[in-house]
Amino acid sequence: QLILDTLDAQSTIKDTRTLVIPGNTTPAASQDEQIAILGALNSLLSRDMISYQTNEIVSYDLTAEGAQIVEQGSNEARVWQALPLKGQGAPVTPVQLKKAVGDDVAKVGQGRAFKSGWIGKEGDGLVKIAPEIVDVTQNDLQEIKSTGTLKSGEKVIADLRKRKLVVQKKGQWFSVSKGSNFSTSNAKPETDLTVDMLTSGSWKTSTFKKYNFEAEGIPTNGGGLHPLLKVREEIRNIFLEMGFAEMPTSSFVESGFWCFDALFVPQQHPARDLQDTFYLSDPVKSLPPKKEYYDIVSQVHEHGGFGSMGYRAPWVDDESRRLLLRTHTTASSAQMLYKLAARCRGEPVDGDEGEFTHGAQSTTGADKVEGQDGKKDDGFRAAKLFSIDRVFRNETMDATHLAEFHQVEGVVADRNLTLADLIGFMRVFFNKMGIENVRFKPAYNPYTEPSMEIFAFHPMLNRWVEVGNSGMFRPEMLEPMGFPKDVRVHGWGLSLERPTMIRYGINNIRTLVGHKVSIEGIENSPAVMF
Ligand code: PHE
Repeated sequence: QLILDTLDAQSTIKDTRTLVIPGNTTPAASQDEQIAILGALNSLLSRDMISYQTNEIVSYDLTAEGAQIVEQGSNEARVWQALPLKGQGAPVTPVQLKKAVGDDVAKVGQGRAFKSGWIGKEGDGLVKIAPEIVDVTQNDLQEIKSTGTLKSGEKVIADLRKRKLVVQKKGQWFSVSKGSNFSTSNAKPETDLTVDMLTSGSWKTSTFKKYNFEAEGIPTNGGGLHPLLKVREEIRNIFLEMGFAEMPTSSFVESGFWCFDALFVPQQHPARDLQDTFYLSDPVKSLPPKKEYYDIVSQVHEHGGFGSMGYRAPWVDDESRRLLLRTHTTASSAQMLYKLAARCRGEPVDGDEGEFTHGAQSTTGADKVEGQDGKKDDGFRAAKLFSIDRVFRNETMDATHLAEFHQVEGVVADRNLTLADLIGFMRVFFNKMGIENVRFKPAYNPYTEPSMEIFAFHPMLNRWVEVGNSGMFRPEMLEPMGFPKDVRVHGWGLSLERPTMIRYGINNIRTLVGHKVSIEGIENSPAVMF
């Protein structure tokens, strides 16, 4: 109200430090008062009642030591004071001086008093040699105390600041003029049009608060998909648009038979060691697998068959029946392939088979359909399958390894597929994930031959990083299932975590999974990565 009334009377306020706040007797010179005025200015500004300009000022305050000098004089003056004029009394020894003015004052004051020619030595003692002095320091500090600054200038102020007698402080004051909505009535504008205003007609004379069309709404609190789920969804879409069907992968617990034996992984293979695989203690053993298939698998392991000489090592039933947390989703792929081969084995086909096979259609056109060229239908149906799910490995946990992670796996079954098909397929697949540069390196898997590691060029790391593992499944695995000899199955696997970390720039896996995950990071992470 003071601001509005002053503006009404004199149309502008050049300097808000001249305002006298009601209840005070002196103008609002202090910073605290200016800050209070600023609050009022901003409130009036938001209603366009005024406009104002900010002016910066620098002023100075005394330190505790500076304030003491104003009271008691400078150190050098106090030393001078404590001494007799030369020839008019016994010189004061340094010890006596310290006793008289204190250690600190004596120490600092002596030097300055000597320099100014105020005091001198006589024998072992000190005496005044200037009969009169002017305590400039005290006078300057006195001036700063009452005006906030010093007329004699910057250099002296700088010196006083160096001596830690004054400190600089920055302040603000304001120049105010009338705004487009200026009035002396400081009533808050209405924010609502009420029934009362309408019936009484008071709306005609009320001022309303303007709508702020620039205002941003309060952020809504919604759930957010975890980056792993987002990337999983995108990879799943890549598979779906390439004509793949999703495999059921809900059983985390598998038998050694499906995780390893059916894949022709030797029973003595190091991957089956306790160090790599989590085995169940209760129950320990799986139900017996289908006898016919089980017998063929154990035969091929122990004695060979289908052109293979096998591992020629004794077969252990217990090893095959041990229950474990699956170490790869290839355990599920194996079961799906076994199911896919049911028609080839002449078994009745499950009702859901059509969901994942491509009927009589071959993905490469190589499928031979009954009647087409006179050959009998051997029951094989081409299939493209994928899964993205969790696997478990007994790993030492560090920045890039956890004991559980997600595997992305693709499997393609068709007649006469070649390694070139696999390579071509993966180029397309990784390209869709935004990885344009891929290379293949010969590798070893017990269940695929040939096998290839897949490397992608990482532009940020500026080097090739391994992104996946792949291969052509071995005949020792496919033929016992009942697939015809010309059917080839290729597959590949990669982790979901690796591309997610690369895409989201995460370098410690523990910030991606576990208690260190930031909820805010999840809410704010971009939706589409590829
Ligand atoms: N199971 C393999 C792994 O865990 C991936 C893979 C799947 C390799 C299919 C070849 C074929 O790394």
